[in-house]
Amino acid sequence: MAIQRLQSHRRAGITHWGRASAPSTVEPAVEPAVEPAVEIKETATVQGVTEMAGKKGPAASLAVIQQEVQGCERCEQLVAGRTQTVFGDGNPQARLCFLGEAPGRDEDKQGVPFVGRAGQLLNDIIKACTLKREDVYILNVIKCRPPENRNPAPEEAANCRGFLQAQLDAIQPEYICCLGTVAAQNLLDSKETIGNLRGTFHDYQGIKVLATYHPAYLLRNPSAKRQVWDDMQILMKDMGIKIPG
Ligand code: URA
Repeated sequence: MAIQRLQSHRRAGITHWGRASAPSTVEPAVEPAVEPAVEIKETATVQGVTEMAGKKGPAASLAVIQQEVQGCERCEQLVAGRTQTVFGDGNPQARLCFLGEAPGRDEDKQGVPFVGRAGQLLNDIIKACTLKREDVYILNVIKCRPPENRNPAPEEAANCRGFLQAQLDAIQPEYICCLGTVAAQNLLDSKETIGNLRGTFHDYQGIKVLATYHPAYLLRNPSAKRQVWDDMQILMKDMGIKIPG
């Protein structure tokens, strides 16, 4: 099990198992063909999370990863602007994770993902699926609020990727629902539009992934609620959860 996880981390590009705050001294396993355009700091990882997930369970593993996230100072601009990091919320043993893009103003204040207007709408969506927020786990691609709620920069998403991976390794969900373009493109390493990605399952390391529109998009475009509802029906049917038509 541990070896399988290590192999999946290697596929995800994680080659170094050091503390998040330590500078990397390990050469990448494969030389990049060209110099990267931006400096991506060492992929965030959490020491021993794989072993701990097996031994101590997901909640204890998440607590360790959360501490690492709190101390992270990789993205200078985000660190300067954040009130606090926003780690994740919900059931550490959830079958289903909802993945958003980044904390907004309310989330930055409260330290909890999806608590603003978009969060209220996500709560409604979860409820309509006959689930509770405590049944699922909610997390974001990056853990710090970008200034003016801009999209996360590619190097910020890359800096945070190890944390996301470690969270998923701890939770081991069966399903991930990506909320919006940023979440879907980042997780699936795709450049496809959300319109093309939504409506069918994708695979991420053996986890079934369904992408749909972001609740913030629905606030601006309520007519897209129909498509999100269609996506939720696909998801719930596959999960074996009956929801009213
Ligand atoms: N939008 C997101 O993508 N994530 C949050 O936590 C809040 C709003």
